[in-house]
Amino acid sequence: MKRYAHITSCGMAVPERVFTNQDLEKMVDTTDEWIISRTGIHERHIASPQETTASLATAAALNALDPTPLDPDDVQLIIVASATPEHIFPATACIVQDNIGAVNAGAFDLSAACTGFIFAVNMAAQAIRSGSIDNAIVIGSETLSKIVNWEDRNTCVLFGDGAGAFVLQASEIPGGVLSCVMRSDGSGGDLLSVPAGGSQMPTTMETVAHNLHTIQMNGREVFRFATREMAAATREAVAIAQLQLDDINLIVPHQANRRIIETAARSLRVPMDRIIMNIDRYGNTSTASIPIAVCEAMDEGRIQSEDNLVLVGFGAGLTWGAMVIRCVETEVYVAPTRRARRRFLFVLARLRSFVRRVLRKLEGLIWSTSSKK
Ligand code: UT7
Repeated sequence: MKRYAHITSCGMAVPERVFTNQDLEKMVDTTDEWIISRTGIHERHIASPQETTASLATAAALNALDPTPLDPDDVQLIIVASATPEHIFPATACIVQDNIGAVNAGAFDLSAACTGFIFAVNMAAQAIRSGSIDNAIVIGSETLSKIVNWEDRNTCVLFGDGAGAFVLQASEIPGGVLSCVMRSDGSGGDLLSVPAGGSQMPTTMETVAHNLHTIQMNGREVFRFATREMAAATREAVAIAQLQLDDINLIVPHQANRRIIETAARSLRVPMDRIIMNIDRYGNTSTASIPIAVCEAMDEGRIQSEDNLVLVGFGAGLTWGAMVIRCVETEVYVAPTRRARRRFLFVLARLRSFVRRVLRKLEGLIWSTSSKK
């Protein structure tokens, strides 16, 4: 029997704190009018010191799991796509795995900047279709506010924080992820980067003093690249899915700039009412922007069963990609008692994690005492 990888649920989480253009006017030489006319952004959510990429990813994953029949120990794979991972290592996905008690899941991070979510969904879909796993949680999560130079008006007005997650499940019903185009061009790596903090330029007093741990961007060049590749990747993904652009009900683009989205829509000759746009309220949340937009569109009833969607993104690397998804009603009734039990399991997961840490320390102590004898 042929297997298909369906998106059975999605969830999102954003920090409570909202930062408006007026707030930015007080920090850098900019205006509400400039930001809206050049980007379409009115406000964005900004993480508190306690909120991290992993905490937002965990909240989005729990929201996505809630309506599904999956218990934490049923989850088989967790991929977190992020440009702002919790650490160089361990992977943010492992922190999410521990937080939700997904004791049987493999977990890893995927780094492809803003295109990361599309690449990660494709990896999970391929693993499901191959038969190696039956389900996965794919998360895009960011706290870009923590790597933005808040004195650089070219970049600080653009970015926001948040997380979105998809649950993917195997099914014999045709549909789900129908096609994916993944592309990259490393020769454009310097157009958008965080230069320091990796092995090429380790952290020193100088790298900190010169702000090399923050986002550096050639906005005009990224803009040119994005408008060129978004339309081309969309056309290619639609053709691979053996569909026409007219068969596509909605396009969900990476939310980087309203003008980039409008230019791509014009080039595709797709009217704006078939494009999802929420950049006005979230800014550019990198890997999280597409799943957040899908979640909102679902909540607003804009996505129906049998709809064909295109997800299309671009970002640092350079990377870009597009994917066609056929949404098929796979809703399963999950009793409220089961959901309540599952929420209890999530609380237990935190306790289990704490106990394991204590036991590991004790075991280490016993081992080092006995090995000295
Ligand atoms: O996820 C991928 C991440 N990145 C992107 O998608 C970014 C893609 N690029 C863009 O979205 C646009 O290029 C920007 C929004 C970054 C800039 O818009 P633009 O229309 O390309 O502006 P520009 O770079 O051509 O700059 C125009 C002017 C410049 O002044 P001069 O040199 O003409 O005197 C900038 O210094 O606007 C100035 N400027 C600002 N003015 C007020 C740049 N940022 C600001 C600002 N407020 N925040």
